[in-house]
Amino acid sequence: AQHNNNRCGTHEAAAWLEEAAETLQGGGLVAFPTETVYGLGADARNTDAVAGIFRAKGRPSDNPLIVHIADSGQLDELVKPYPPLAGKLMELFWPGPLTIVLPVQSGALSPLVTANLPTVGVRMPDHPLALELLRRAGCPVAAPSANRSGRPSPTEASHVLDDLDGLIHGIVDGGATGVGLESTVVELLDEQTVAILRPGGITLEKLRRALPDIAVLGGEDGLSDQEEAPRSPGMKYIHYAPQGELTLVEGSPEQTEAYIAARLAEASARGERTGVLAFSESIRRYEADVKMNMGSRQRLDEAAARLYAALRRFDEEGAVSLWAESCSEEGIGRALMNRLSKAASKVIKLN
Ligand code: TXA
Ligand code: MG
Repeated sequence: AQHNNNRCGTHEAAAWLEEAAETLQGGGLVAFPTETVYGLGADARNTDAVAGIFRAKGRPSDNPLIVHIADSGQLDELVKPYPPLAGKLMELFWPGPLTIVLPVQSGALSPLVTANLPTVGVRMPDHPLALELLRRAGCPVAAPSANRSGRPSPTEASHVLDDLDGLIHGIVDGGATGVGLESTVVELLDEQTVAILRPGGITLEKLRRALPDIAVLGGEDGLSDQEEAPRSPGMKYIHYAPQGELTLVEGSPEQTEAYIAARLAEASARGERTGVLAFSESIRRYEADVKMNMGSRQRLDEAAARLYAALRRFDEEGAVSLWAESCSEEGIGRALMNRLSKAASKVIKLN
């Protein structure tokens, strides 16, 4: 089933890893689970294979791909000598949801992977199936999230099939992913400075705690959203968006509840199919056609894990007028708010 061009084979984990690895080696496209989201993998050295990723996703060609490795030994041929600070980050956080932008070794990768940048984002995923697949394939694997461009990233194999069935050669089904949001992308500005280009599972606080002598720059420290865009090309595109119109509401929980409840009432009076994405502390306040519970405000890690599936549910249920509560930007909350504001077509600030 792996090579069937019309329907994508779904495979039970380990039994299919060897076949999936051979598909990658042969230039095919294989979706696989990581600890963040499902990735759509191809041999990063093979330009035809990498072109297939862009085609299947409908991804703009100026948006570079992350390269996945299973072993630090693979780095030597992919990147030029890098500063000790990069090595320190790998030691601290690999395998894990941290992508490090490094100077690319010319000729090591298909130029499509880097979108002609002099750098490449590399990461070692912390997922047993991903690591085993990468080991067996033996090549660096370029893998963006395995969704159609602009859609929420897939956190379950069924999400991948919803978007890409018939367009890829295989999928390794590892069940639901863990973190639920894409990896943190960092760049080293100099020997003492790390800039976060995309917030994710390795949080600003974690980086600062682990590197007390290093300046770790998040958005508020001078890398504004506009400045982020050219550095991490992917951040400028519409992302993660449901088909309906999502409004993100920022304010105290009380203000937010009153505001969203009123808008939901108006929308249903207009006959629109409504949806709300809310924390468990306030979800009972709302009346909507589709109510998605992100879990407790005290457990933003769970909210992160639930976000993309919830956004996809709105589409499945045909909800078109959508409101979402916001959360604190502490810890994983920062990545959660980043994705929510990209998914939203409008942001309302109540205070
Ligand atoms: O968690 C993840 O990172 C997932 C899983 C599959 O590993 N992958 C993922 O890939 O999210 P993708 O392609 O959806 O996002 C890659 C992000 C984009 O924002 C891209 O612009 C940025 O990384 N990026 C890639 N290479 C870069 C580079 N050389 N310099 C700056 N940003 C880069
Ligand atoms: Mg993506």
